[in-house]
Amino acid sequence: MKKKTLGVGIIGGGFVARFHIRSWAGVRDADIMAIYDPDKKRAEEAAGIVRKLNVGAAKTYKSISDMVADPKIDAIWICAPNFARIEVMEEIVHALEAGKGDLSGVCCEKPLGRNVMEARRMLELVRKAKLLDGYLENQVFAPAVVRGRAIVWARGATLTGRPYLARASEEHSGPHMPWFWEGPLQGGGVLNDMMCHSVEVARFLLTPPGAPRGVLTAVKVSAYASCLKWQNPEYAKILRDQSGGKTDYLQRPAEDFARSLIEYKDEKGNVIVVETTTSWCYVGAGLRLSMELLGPEYALQINSLDAGLKVFFSRKVKGKAGEDLVEKQNAEVGLMPVVADEENEYGYQAEDRHMVQSFLKGVRPSENFDDGLNVTELLMAAYMSAEREKTLPFPPPGLANFVPAVAKGTWNPKKA
Ligand SMILES: NC(=O)c1ccc[n+]([C@@H]2O[C@H](COP(=O)([O-])OP(=O)(O)OC[C@H]3O[C@@H](n4cnc5c(N)ncnc54)[C@H](O)[C@@H]3O)[C@@H](O)[C@H]2O)c1
Repeated sequence: MKKKTLGVGIIGGGFVARFHIRSWAGVRDADIMAIYDPDKKRAEEAAGIVRKLNVGAAKTYKSISDMVADPKIDAIWICAPNFARIEVMEEIVHALEAGKGDLSGVCCEKPLGRNVMEARRMLELVRKAKLLDGYLENQVFAPAVVRGRAIVWARGATLTGRPYLARASEEHSGPHMPWFWEGPLQGGGVLNDMMCHSVEVARFLLTPPGAPRGVLTAVKVSAYASCLKWQNPEYAKILRDQSGGKTDYLQRPAEDFARSLIEYKDEKGNVIVVETTTSWCYVGAGLRLSMELLGPEYALQINSLDAGLKVFFSRKVKGKAGEDLVEKQNAEVGLMPVVADEENEYGYQAEDRHMVQSFLKGVRPSENFDDGLNVTELLMAAYMSAEREKTLPFPPPGLANFVPAVAKGTWNPKKA
């Protein structure tokens, strides 16, 4: 008999794992039963949050293989850093091949890989192990995105023609952990870290509800990347100090600003455009996600900082720095927007619910490793275009083996 409740194990107990854990109260038919993190303290803390929120009886494990071998575990969410993708996935597959455990599916956080070779390898591994696969791109599950897209397509597009332009941007003041700042560990700078969201959510908005991603074909990519803030000596010093001297943005920066323009064609040959902007040098109230979808007689717009809830604190309220109002919060006084239900509004809750229900029904999630691979291909083409300062046809020759200079630690715009 098919299981009614999915036992989920999470690999990596850091920042994003906690978003998933907090979202779980709105996810039915699944319990978080396991956390694996090589940092035992982190694993224990994350398991403690699971138990406190009553979203599962999470235990910690000594290894990924032990977690996979536990019959209580039916599916795994990979929330480990980008540099550990392949080793984590290989260990899952080796454990299964050795007859330890029985999984129905694996989900993986964005990006699927640091380059096309890695993303392709992830896809090969899930196929080899005959697992269902979910690509964790939360923004395509965000209620405002899903509902806005449904309304615009049902009313505006049906009566006046399909949308032709989507803009998406994601900006904040910089990542919370040193590894994100290191090109070789993360796979790049902000282009790899955050443009993965923007290119996918824009593509999603431009795709008719219910249609496959194949209705749009990418034909051209042009992009620009630079290091606007963090290569300045006073900011480079902050990164050096935060990383115990390892991160050197004077010699080995990564881009903290990037934009891309992707031209698609639809089935009728119409030109469809995606424009994205991402930055780690936006100092506002906190994380700002914005999206627009434009068509002949209509427009949609979303800005996550246009929150319905705002609070005001006078200069006499001298509290501790925190992220209690909004992710990547930069201030605690003045008029501040509050994103009241971040896990839901950013899309984590609907994303996790969709993945769980897909695995329980034995069907492939709507957002899967093929989508993750396609996103990586677009990002790598964007890096190629930015490096060559040229608009490139998509896919450009050499994409399959391309590694951006920033991921090799050899990119330095100030030296160029
Ligand atoms: N969807 C989103 O908006 C979003 C937001 C943040 C992060 N992410 C993605 O989630 C992933 C994790 O990011 P994070 O912010 O949680 O990072 P983090 O550094 O806060 O946490 C990562 C955790 O993984 C653990 N870890 C390190 N090596 C590991 C290994 N080999 N196996 C298992 N665990 C290991 C670390 O000890 C740490 O606790 C990244 O791929 C990142 O791109 C997605």
